[in-house]
Amino acid sequence: MSYPLHFNALSLKRKKLRNSKALLRLERVSKSIDGNTILRDINLEIGEGEFLSILGASGSGKSSLLYIMALLDRPTSGEVFFEEDRINFDEELSPIRNSKIGFVFQFHYLLPELTAVENVIVPMLKAGITKEKSLKRAGELLKKLGLEGKEDRKPYQLSGGEQQRVAIARAIANEPKVLFADEPTGNLDSKNSETVMDIFLKLNSEGNTIVMVTHEEELAEFGTRVLTMSDGRILEERAIEKG
Ligand SMILES: Nc1ncnc2c1ncn2[C@@H]1O[C@H](COP(=O)(O)OP(=O)(O)OP(=O)(O)O)[C@@H](O)[C@H]1O
Ligand SMILES: [Mg+2]
Repeated sequence: MSYPLHFNALSLKRKKLRNSKALLRLERVSKSIDGNTILRDINLEIGEGEFLSILGASGSGKSSLLYIMALLDRPTSGEVFFEEDRINFDEELSPIRNSKIGFVFQFHYLLPELTAVENVIVPMLKAGITKEKSLKRAGELLKKLGLEGKEDRKPYQLSGGEQQRVAIARAIANEPKVLFADEPTGNLDSKNSETVMDIFLKLNSEGNTIVMVTHEEELAEFGTRVLTMSDGRILEERAIEKG
């Protein structure tokens, strides 16, 4: 797969927006399920405005790590800090998840009985935004993601790439501080993958922090940093130089 050159311009632009404030920090995070250790002693810091890619073989722990970072799952041991606050996984974390975290799954998990625009307003209504305002913002987001005119279609009336874009609109509806994506292009052809990467690069150039799991080395390099996992550990970490 090859990607157009204009991505490089965006990459340069977003580089300037990055700063060093830690948005998320994992300290000695481990996870075991039924006696199997799937994450081992992970130490990781994600700065505001970063675009972190996570590579690794199937079963290496990428999704497990992403779920813990997105506060969807708890570590067996270790600490997670979000904006320097220690997360207490015994507390209800949906308020912080709803307002500060967006998540795009490999399979979009749109609600099949709702239209595109209805799917996008769900997290906004949950956050207490009025229906009128939610509909307005959902319309703007869908337009931004190239779905103008398709707002009232249900997921089955949209292509895979379009569904994934609706899922991205939903994930960013509440202007999250950080967007997590688990193989967001895993089920898409190269054209739709490009569109999704283009959207992520634009969001990142606007200052959004992005953490993306992918199998593809080439896609990982759209990030500002690539982390490679193996057997529940961070095997390698490298910064991507742009331009
Ligand atoms: N709920 C669970 N119960 C038991 N084992 C699990 C569970 N979730 C994950 N695992 C195991 O943990 C390991 C890491 O899984 P994980 O889904 O994080 O891998 P991954 O790197 O995302 O793989 P893939 O690229 O295939 O999505 C695997 O061996 C998996 O079988
Ligand atoms: Mg996975």
